[in-house]
Amino acid sequence: MVDVSHADIIQKMTLEQKCALLCGYTTFGTRPYASLGIPELEFSDGPHGLRHQADHANHLGIGESLPATCFPCAVTLADTWDTDLLKEIGKALGEEAASQGVNVILGPGVNIKRSPLCGRNFEYFSEDPYLAGRLGSAYVQGVQSTGIGACVKHFAANSQETRRQASDSILDERTLRELYLTAFEIIVKEAHPACVMTSYNRINGEYANENKHLLKDILRDEWGYTGVVVSDWGGSNDHVKAVKCRSTFEMPGGGLDSTRSLIHAVKQRKVDESDVDQCVEDALNLILPTDAALKQHPHTFDKKAHHALAQRAAAAGIVLLKNEKVAPLTGKGAAHPLLPLAAGTKVAVIGDLAGTPRYQGSGSSRVNATQVDNLIDAVKGSALDFVGYEPGFDRTDTRNDEKAQKALQLAAKADAILLNVGLSEAAEAEGLDRTALDLADNQAQLIEALAKTRKPMIIVLSSGGVLTTPWSAFCQSLLYEGLGGQAGASAVVQVITGEVNPSGKLAESWPNQLSETPLADRFPSDTVQAQYREGPYVGYRYYETAHVAVAYPFGFGLSYTTFAYSRLRVQVDEAQRLPKANVSFDLTNTGTYRGAEIAQIYVAREDAGIFRPERELKGFVKVALDPQETKRVTVKLNETAFRYFDAETNAWESESGVYRIYVGTSSADLYLYKNVKIKGTAAPHIQGDEKLLPYHFGRVQQVSRATFEVLLGHPIPKESPVLDRNLCVRDLNHGKSPILWLFRAIAQHAVKTNPNTNTFFVYNMPLRSMAKNAGNLISMGFVDALVREAKGWGLAGVVPAVIVQVLTGNFFILVWFLWFVAPLLIELIKNAVLNAQGERTLAAQDKRS
Ligand code: BGC
Repeated sequence: MVDVSHADIIQKMTLEQKCALLCGYTTFGTRPYASLGIPELEFSDGPHGLRHQADHANHLGIGESLPATCFPCAVTLADTWDTDLLKEIGKALGEEAASQGVNVILGPGVNIKRSPLCGRNFEYFSEDPYLAGRLGSAYVQGVQSTGIGACVKHFAANSQETRRQASDSILDERTLRELYLTAFEIIVKEAHPACVMTSYNRINGEYANENKHLLKDILRDEWGYTGVVVSDWGGSNDHVKAVKCRSTFEMPGGGLDSTRSLIHAVKQRKVDESDVDQCVEDALNLILPTDAALKQHPHTFDKKAHHALAQRAAAAGIVLLKNEKVAPLTGKGAAHPLLPLAAGTKVAVIGDLAGTPRYQGSGSSRVNATQVDNLIDAVKGSALDFVGYEPGFDRTDTRNDEKAQKALQLAAKADAILLNVGLSEAAEAEGLDRTALDLADNQAQLIEALAKTRKPMIIVLSSGGVLTTPWSAFCQSLLYEGLGGQAGASAVVQVITGEVNPSGKLAESWPNQLSETPLADRFPSDTVQAQYREGPYVGYRYYETAHVAVAYPFGFGLSYTTFAYSRLRVQVDEAQRLPKANVSFDLTNTGTYRGAEIAQIYVAREDAGIFRPERELKGFVKVALDPQETKRVTVKLNETAFRYFDAETNAWESESGVYRIYVGTSSADLYLYKNVKIKGTAAPHIQGDEKLLPYHFGRVQQVSRATFEVLLGHPIPKESPVLDRNLCVRDLNHGKSPILWLFRAIAQHAVKTNPNTNTFFVYNMPLRSMAKNAGNLISMGFVDALVREAKGWGLAGVVPAVIVQVLTGNFFILVWFLWFVAPLLIELIKNAVLNAQGERTLAAQDKRS
């Protein structure tokens, strides 16, 4: 988007109009001013399809949205490693947004998958920032090619759902930069997203949406970002502080409480009006051009073409994890890999997920799909011989012997079993973290029982999160489809029949067990602070450095053909301050099928230096080859290839020394390497690095407090449960209010009996969030009254109640009740009156200007 000055419009605006523009108007829209020619701007989720609720919008997907294409979730899109495809999807999303009058799509989500337990991992690309950054950049470019804005989220260090709106990510600057900010940096510099959404959490004590270091020092000053910053929905803490950091919009709208605080702050000179003007300028730079783009777009999109694109993406994202040789299913001959299945193979389709597919995650990203394919129909429509369908298990994870028995009987009639298992909707969702990595027992038991039929078995795994796979020994072929979107099932059948040769590669490591993950006992944090003691050792950075074997490494995925790598050449370019390189090699398809290979380039430090992961992904390329064809491939490594962040020089540096460039097909399968020498930037050696032994060896499961403090460069901030606006509902037991204890008990009961995004949202919500999500009803004054209650206001009310009781011989309960509710009622009434007055003033000003 091109920045244009709108000084002429801003000059005509009153302070009230400017402040109200920055505070949102409806759940997803900003305030329009007809007389100033400022239309409403409409945001909409995102990321893998449009969740646009035309009427009665609400947060978190409670109501239906307009039909839209449900593309594969980020987990599956990431497994394609295909930036061109991500651009196409971005473009299609832009077209759908435009057709529904949406200016900005709330996506992509590029947070790092710090632990496989994060319930929202399905919405994020990868554990690796380079891969997430490149894919996110392509997605943004695609969306914005249509004139619609993209909103990259959630900026930053937002890797757990537990207490997500109050959690405080404590991490050192180097880890922050190298792991948690790099994807955003790549996207901001390469794709210039129209919007950046700040995350709910705090980073080193400051909320992301008012974090000067993040928003001013890094995003604006270092990266040169000139677009809009928007709070996550209900995630604004103090809008005045946010505006000072050039955070543009507080969302959602509703009520004028935040507008009033901003006006007040300007009048009290707590914030300069020029800061408000700058934010208004940023806002207009988004609203006006996207509105102009909307006017040029048709109000329809090609549903069929988008479904076909969703199918192509799902197929490209399928990862073949296992494909063992079996005796021929029909006729005689040599043993061959079970997949692809020949036409006419008799297939028994089994698994509850085959009938009712698991194709997307729950929460704010939930799309009302235009159509949904399922495995039964897809097999029936293929050249395979469909012998029948049985669900085999209950989705509720309870054992059902009758269903299992029927599945076994069906299997007996087939040449091969096609079994669809995975995570249920309740097992992973926005707002909650998982507690285990295992497949439900009833599904694992069915796999074992089916294996006893000795029929070859293909397992299709549908889940947004990683699973442990001890049961994979019982099947001959294993396909991971992630959450494949509305056409996922048809894509699976294309792969099992060989119409598509699988080329997907995991964008996340699959551990053997939870106890072997770097954050095994520390995720999610059980207090407000989430200490990132593992530093950069997340995913393969941990497994490779600490030499921990995994079930399937990052970057892994099989094909129906084979590839060979040869003739590696590396040319380093140190013309600029930070070195770059060109990596060239020959890639040959040595098998009999046409197929695509995703070649990956990892950079490692060869000689001794500061601590760093064993190797890191710095480039990749997807190459399609005919059987026996060879192509010379060149991958350009950019200035991120050899850099590290030095907190002392506060700059990116590169160490002088020998580096090894690996070319391979996963973080653990490397075929070629070459050593190169780098001059480096000659920064002084990082002080204290030698004291960080656990980090030199990647032994980060148990980092002591003292060692973490050396990494942080300062003591860990003190943490005590604070009774303030940010007290979470789940922590109300720390307060002194029996009524709030009761409220907590109800919320806790709700998450236990009905664990979903919304019950968890309330349980993890800080008190402040009530005002931020229901501003037309609840103000911060109301929240403050609740905080007083948590501090013991209610208990203190016993004194007047006793006095009245003694004096009148009655009314104890009534006085005590009024003592508690009166301040709340007063705040509700005050807010309603002030909102009405404010709306009248704004309406009058809009007429006048
Ligand atoms: C989510 C965002 C989403 C927003 C609006 C929040 O709860 O964290 O990703 O865009 O809601 O629905």
